[in-house]
Parts: sequence; C-alpha cells; structure tokens
Amino acid sequence: MKVILTGDRPTGKLHLGHYVGSLRKRLEMQDKDDYEKMYVMVADAQALTDNFDNPKKVRDNVKEIVLDYLACGINPEKVTIFIQSMIPELTEYTFYYLNLVTLSRLERNPTVKSELQQKDFNKSIPVGFLCYPVSQAADITLFGATDVPVGDDQLPMIEQTNEIVRKFNSIYGETLTECKAILPDNEKAFRLPGIDGKNKMSKSLGNCIYLADDEKTLYEKVMKMYTDPNHININDPGKIESNMVFTYLDVFATDEYFSKYLEEFKNLDELKKAYQKGGVGDVKIKKFLYNVLNEILTPIRKRRQELEENMDYVYEILQKGTNEARVVAKKNLEKFKKAMQIDYFN
Ligand code: TRP
Repeated sequence: MKVILTGDRPTGKLHLGHYVGSLRKRLEMQDKDDYEKMYVMVADAQALTDNFDNPKKVRDNVKEIVLDYLACGINPEKVTIFIQSMIPELTEYTFYYLNLVTLSRLERNPTVKSELQQKDFNKSIPVGFLCYPVSQAADITLFGATDVPVGDDQLPMIEQTNEIVRKFNSIYGETLTECKAILPDNEKAFRLPGIDGKNKMSKSLGNCIYLADDEKTLYEKVMKMYTDPNHININDPGKIESNMVFTYLDVFATDEYFSKYLEEFKNLDELKKAYQKGGVGDVKIKKFLYNVLNEILTPIRKRRQELEENMDYVYEILQKGTNEARVVAKKNLEKFKKAMQIDYFN
C-alpha cells in the first residue's frame, strides 16, 4: 500500500503555484482510500538551511502554512501534519546518508544550483544548504514514503533519494523503499509563472498570488499581469503565448466559468481565437480571470479567516500530528540502526 509524504518550507504563505503544483494533487490523493498513511510535513529545518539567520521568519510561517493547508481542505482526520524539526530521527538518518553521497553529486543538483544562483551565497555556500537534498531523502525514507506529490522542481530530490535508497540497501541489506514523484495532471501547472511572466511564482521575486490574498489585492494583481505588450488597441491582434492571463486560464478556466462570467464565449479555445484575431481587450480577459480565481480562492480565504480565530485548534492538530509521526519515526529508526549494525545494547 502507498505511503504518501510531502512537505513545504515555511518561508512564506502558500501561493497559487503551490496550489496547482502540489496542493490540488494532495487533496485528490487524500480523498482516495488507496493509501496506508499520508503525511504533510512543515519543513522548518529545511527552511533554516537558507534562513538560519532569520528564525522568526521560519517560526511565524509554520503557522501560516498550516493555516493554508487546513484552509485548502487538507483533512487532519486523514492526513498527519507534522513539524520536521520535532522529529530528531530525521537528523540521524541524514547524518548516515551523508556517507552515501558525494560532494560533486550534490553540486550537480539542478534545483540546488538555480537556488544558489538566486541567493547570493557567492563562494561561501553553507554546507547545510548544499546538503538539504540529503535531509529530504531522510524525510521521505524515514516514513517509508512511496508516493511524493510535488512540483517538477523537486524531481532531482526524488532521484537523489532513490540513489541513496539503492546504495543503502546494497550495503546494509534491503531496508528502505524507493519512491516516485506524483506530478500535477495538467502539464501547464508544473511551473506556474508569476504575474510578471518572467519566472516561476516565487515569494522572493514578489510575483505571487497568495491563497490568503483578499479580493482587492487579487484584483490588483490580476490587473497588473503581464500580457502582450504589443496589444495596445482592442482591435489589434493579441498574442496568447507568454501572455500570463492565458497561461493562468489554461490552468484554471473550465467551460462552466465561461457560462457564468463570460457568456459571449463558450470556452477557452473560442476566447483565444477571438483574442488572437483582435477585438478582445485585456481588461475583459483580466476581469474574467479575476472572477475565476476569486471563485476558487473565496472559500479558502473564508476558511482561513475562521481558523485564524481558532489558533488553539490549529496548534492542537499540529501537535497531535507531530506526536503520531514521532511514534513511527522511533520505530523505523530501530530497524535502520539494526541494518547499519549500530544497535548496541539489544
Ligand atoms: N523541498 C521542498 C520544497 O522546497 C520541501 C520538502 C522538504 C519536501 N522535505 C520534503 C517535499 C519531502 C517533499 C518531500 O518545497
């Protein structure tokens, strides 16, 4: 049976990129009854690998992320939500995994590489940051996860994890299970770009739409979206490639939204054709996108506000989940140490 595990770094509120890249898939998975366990981890220890000098940011965002999870519909009856740093067994796994990975292998990780470029660590790369894929392998394998719903930027971590699993098993005997990434169904959702159209949605670039954004903020952000700079007059032909409004509509707009908010077109294909021909203004398509997004985000926003009034309940869930995860972790660490022959007094 499947064991599902995934997580997020608590460095900011969750945004639409998280929603389409991984949250939607998690919701779908939690409601199927084909798994043994499902875990969602708040990766505070991983967040500290590049925010070690800002502990308050990480601490504050643990709560924001859990609010986002619950607001989206992650069901604590089905899913164990826990805090990474509260599971010390993860650190033990990581320490022994470090023996199984070379420095050059870590330096080749494309996701880590691009993150290093974005941050200005220059030549002084903290070892902890470079090694976070190893700690992520611990997250996945300690709980015996087989299915990891993530965005495609996490594929190198899954690959790295499976390399460690194979190496571990070949040295210490069959102990660990390999895992696979579960990507979103819609390929367009793999890497949702930010509203600037330049990069993927990322809080450090300030191009995000957050799940918690209020209506006014959402409206303003949609109105600011990058479209086609040469589409100046309504009657000019417009380009839909690298036009963020269409990129987002590709991900979010279903035919029902057209009958509700933009009746003059039956579906996205019709709208695209009309826009390309000329005669459809940017404000019209932006208003439509706003309505679509607002319909998706309104229930999430409402639920989030209710939960914010009830933080005791939120922390209770987090504590219960963490306790549960700890029990599993302790049990699995025993097997792990036995395989490595470091179980001395049994
Ligand atoms: N690296 C993931 C991110 O940046 C977070 C994460 C940590 C994770 N541990 C994990 C994801 C284990 C999946 C499985 O969002």
